[in-house]
Amino acid sequence: MALSYISIICALLSYVDSRILTVDRVPEILPYELIARLTSSTFVLSQPLCYFNKQPQLPCTDNTCEIWSVIASGPGVHNFDLDKVREGSQILSSSPYPDAFVSEVPKRYFITKLGVPRDFPCGQVPGVRYFKVGADGNCSTTNCNGILPAGTTVRVKYILIDPVTREVVSESKWSNPIALISPRAISSMDESMWKRSAAMVVITVILSCTLAVLLLLLAAVLLLDW
Ligand SMILES: *[C@@H]1O[C@H](CO)[C@@H](O)[C@H](O)[C@H]1NC(C)=O
Repeated sequence: MALSYISIICALLSYVDSRILTVDRVPEILPYELIARLTSSTFVLSQPLCYFNKQPQLPCTDNTCEIWSVIASGPGVHNFDLDKVREGSQILSSSPYPDAFVSEVPKRYFITKLGVPRDFPCGQVPGVRYFKVGADGNCSTTNCNGILPAGTTVRVKYILIDPVTREVVSESKWSNPIALISPRAISSMDESMWKRSAAMVVITVILSCTLAVLLLLLAAVLLLDW
């Protein structure tokens, strides 16, 4: 009896899951150097250009579907993949940003909005196009684009939401793990930078003294000659 219930539930779950079309794209950190491409709490991704455009069998269009991103650390990856099926139309509020990493039982992921596929077109687009995770700082609304706890390692996926049902209808693959800079690395960097500038001061002083002595010698030589 229990077994048949379980198999029915599994069948239902796989039915729901199979309606989410996976696109064969992997979000990645911006490939070129940019200021603050990676800090202790933010990072910069390539945009989901041409990820979800003109996909057949979608209930919404390039103008109405909504592209969101999921930012997850550790078990958050698994938690989201379960929730997108279990929570259905509640998925966007299943792990509010303010609680995502600090509540009693944190889900360790949050979801924030980018726009519609029309704004992320296929083909050549001019300029550097990027998406900065953490742009809203330590914010307080459910789907704000908040910073991450310092030194976290995160993975990201772009998802497509049906504006009517509020369910996930398509998704990219998870990115590779992205390791944010840990506070210890920052403080040791500060320290080595400080040591380096102290060394610079010493060298400058020595050089100035040497120069002064040389000038004095030169003056003496000239005076004696004269
Ligand atoms: C955001 O602020 C809250 C409250 O001050 C704090 O508990 C939390 O650690 C902060 N989050 C981050 C990622 O710094």
